This record gives sequence, structure tokens and C-alpha cells, in this order.
Amino acid sequence: MDAKGWNVKQYTEHNGEQTKSAKKFFMFYADLLKDLYGDDPVTLIDVGSGCGRVLVNIILKDSELKFSKVVGADKCTKMIDHANKTYGSDELKFHLMDVQECVPECLKSLKFDILTSFYCLHWIHDLKKAFNVISSLLKPGGLFLCVFLKKHFLAGIYSALAQKYSPYMDNYENKFSELLFLDNADEVIKGYLTECGFEIVEFIDVKNDLCDLNSEAIMSESLEVINPFLSAMPDTLRKAFLQDQIEVSYKIQTGKKNPFVIKRRIFYFIAKKL
Ligand SMILES: C[S@@+](CC[C@H](N)C(=O)[O-])C[C@H]1O[C@@H](n2cnc3c(N)ncnc32)[C@H](O)[C@@H]1O
Repeated sequence: MDAKGWNVKQYTEHNGEQTKSAKKFFMFYADLLKDLYGDDPVTLIDVGSGCGRVLVNIILKDSELKFSKVVGADKCTKMIDHANKTYGSDELKFHLMDVQECVPECLKSLKFDILTSFYCLHWIHDLKKAFNVISSLLKPGGLFLCVFLKKHFLAGIYSALAQKYSPYMDNYENKFSELLFLDNADEVIKGYLTECGFEIVEFIDVKNDLCDLNSEAIMSESLEVINPFLSAMPDTLRKAFLQDQIEVSYKIQTGKKNPFVIKRRIFYFIAKKL
């Protein structure tokens, strides 16, 4: 995503599939977390918290943990403003933070028991740097729970359009984690975690996760909302780009029974800071 960040309204309207998937992952570990922490108060930070809905409606509402401090962090000002306006309170604050850079002053003195991150880290090019920042936010023994998109048809779309829209899409790969383009991403990610001082508790590679976008209208909106190149384009080019995105999507999905069901590969993992 670009300096202007995400369109918050569009994002909140179209992240239903992602929210469902985040819930499935988090609830899978709810018992493990309850066994580990019981009724002890725990501190949690959600990195790439976006509009805040997953943090509030899933992590806070559905887990049976007792939280003493909860923080959301995101690099997009619009997301942070929206989250603070919608969910912010004395107990829950959302802070600007780029996890690829460093921990902001206001969070430096805090160390958390749990750090969650849903559908954020595939946007990060320098994952090793992000893992070091994540490690510095956790207490020793703290848990890092992550949902990481390994493969997305977005990468195929952008690679097909990069040349045509080259002034806006130069080095488009840098907008994503390098791992999106590697066959052995699972080994690389595990290596980075180990190098950054984590022990892997569980690593699940879901090779055929299906995301049902349901219709061309939703597919089109979903592709628009997460597009990191559009905001720099003039209006006419933007329209052409959106149309091209749809055409390339249909090409990629040729032969599929339902062109709106997208196959993704996702890594779910839990790692413990040593
Ligand atoms: C797809 S949204 C996911 C939001 C939320 N976790 C959810 O599941 O609905 C990805 C979020 O990651 C944030 N993000 C991307 N790069 C980031 C970075 N380097 N540091 C912090 N947040 C980042 C974006 O601003 C966006 O809000």
C-alpha cells in the first residue's frame, strides 16, 4: 500500500472473508491460550490491526482470556483514526507503527504476552526486520500468532500488468514480502523466525484455502481496496487499470468452475520468543 494508505470504508465493507478466516485461526488456538494463561491478566498487541474489527470482535470478544492491556498498531493513519474513533477507549488504544521500521516511543516501555498479526505481514518486504521489531515487543516466552498469505492471485495480476502500467508499478515486487514469490517460503520464514530468536510452536501450511468473493462486483471492489498503486494514478488510468485487473483475474481463473472462488496458500504459525 502507498503513503495514502487504505480506503477504510471500502476495506471494512469488504473484509468479510478475511475476518472469517482470522476467526477460524484464532479460535483454533483459543483453548491453548486459555490453558496457558487461565485467568491471569494478559497483555496483547495486534500488528496491522487495520480497522480494528478483528481485534475487537474476535480476539477480545471470543477468547476467554482476561486482558490487562490491549493495543492495536498499524502504519496507516486512516486505519488508526477509524479504529480509535470506533473502538478506542482508556483500555484500548490504536497507535501508528510501521513494523518494518521501529517501535514508537509510546510503546517502547511495554512488553506484551501475545502479539497477533492477521493478513498484514505479506505486505512487508523486509520480513526479518519486522520479526526483530516483533520480538522486541514481546516478553521472553511471549507468543507470536500470525496469519501470513503465502500465495495470492494478486501477485499474478500485478505481474501481468506491471509493464503496461510501468511508471506506477516499477519494482512492484517491493510492495510485498519477498516470500510471496519464493517456492521455499515456508523454510525461509522458519529460518527468519529462528534467527530472530523465536521457537516455532506450530506451523501450518494451508495449501488450498478457498476465498469466495461471490460476484464480479465484490471481486472488483476487493481488488480495488487492497491495490497499492491506484492512488498515484490519474482517474482515467485508474479506471482502465481496474478494468484490466478484472480481465486478468478471469484469465487466471480460466477453467475454474467458479471464477470468484480464489485459491490461496496461507501459513498459520505460532512462535515463542525465547
Ligand atoms: C489486509 S489489512 C488486515 C487488517 C486486519 N488485521 C484484519 O485482519 O482485518 C492489512 C493491514 O496491515 C497494515 N500494514 C501494512 N504494512 C504495515 C506495516 N509495515 N506496519 C504496520 N502495519 C502495516 C495495513 O495498513 C492494513 O491495515
